[in-house]
Amino acid sequence: MKDRNSGHPAPMDMFSRTISYLRLSLTDRCNLKCMYCVTEDEQKGCLVKLGREELLTYEELLRIVRVAVEMGISKLRLTGGEPLVRNNIMDFIRQLGKIDGLDDVRITTNGVLLERYGQGLFDAGVTKVNISLDTLQRERFADITGVDCFDRVWRGIETALAVGFSPVKLNMVVMRDINDDELPAFAELSRKMPLQVRFIEFMPIGTSTRWTRDTYMSSDEIKARFSTLGELIPQEKQQADGPASVFKLGAGAVGSLGFISPISHHFCDRCNRLRLTSEGRLRSCLLHDEETDLKSVIRGGCSDADIRETLLTAIRNKPKGHQMADRLKEDGADCHGRMSRIGG
Ligand code: 5AD
Repeated sequence: MKDRNSGHPAPMDMFSRTISYLRLSLTDRCNLKCMYCVTEDEQKGCLVKLGREELLTYEELLRIVRVAVEMGISKLRLTGGEPLVRNNIMDFIRQLGKIDGLDDVRITTNGVLLERYGQGLFDAGVTKVNISLDTLQRERFADITGVDCFDRVWRGIETALAVGFSPVKLNMVVMRDINDDELPAFAELSRKMPLQVRFIEFMPIGTSTRWTRDTYMSSDEIKARFSTLGELIPQEKQQADGPASVFKLGAGAVGSLGFISPISHHFCDRCNRLRLTSEGRLRSCLLHDEETDLKSVIRGGCSDADIRETLLTAIRNKPKGHQMADRLKEDGADCHGRMSRIGG
């Protein structure tokens, strides 16, 4: 990516938060069917997907990103669904690389296609990769994701490391009685591999979620599981850490552990994000259903100034925070958008 900045200060919301980070969900399609993303019936059968015309085209997306970067947004994350299943994704990423002022493009992937695309992503200038991985056990992987391809994902992780991405982050959604027995094994990975293993609190998102009070585990409880493994040494906060608090498991660890606590210690006061869903709707908070339909604006023949105004309106309407901790008192989802369309 070009290492130049637009020179514009990033836009600010009503609560003095600087919004410098845009997450693009490129598709709601995915080559996995994870249990927290789809219902049990959907995991066994068919999923209703957006039609091709419902997705923003690459031209539309590039136009939006250009306007956003001119406004001072400098960091972009590509998400899905699974971003690497969208047709001609590499061409799109190379086009992103030509946008002046966009110096940081990252991707969140399930890793299934990383063996194939890892080198190309690195060469196209993608700076960092996050890989979602909720288990290290082959059979359990098939149960959680609906597809028996753990080995492929593992090769994808090895590819990401071999081509030189740094850091490579693994995202584990921690779910009691589903994968919490693997917490020590995930932590141990960070001792010998240069991975940042991140433990994400399970959030009640989407009508299909299998979230319950009991399945949820707080970061404090997760951390306590490591007390016998070694000392958790706090690391100085790096810009690339995002909302994670980062530790090393013992001084000799090659990698690190990250804890992401959207529920127990929410980071709304530091949130710098704006999201564009795969349906082309701007969403200023992951956990609030309010969205602005940018696709209709852009398809109504708008000017770049109109796009800019729509982005600014979404930023101005960004809620102060979410009250997701209250959900701990009840079961069920509070936020009804589908994770596969919002992009995490
Ligand atoms: N709670 C917490 N994390 C989730 N992710 C997907 N669904 C949930 C959920 N309900 C994770 C994905 C991905 C990241 C963007 O969000 O595993 O790694």
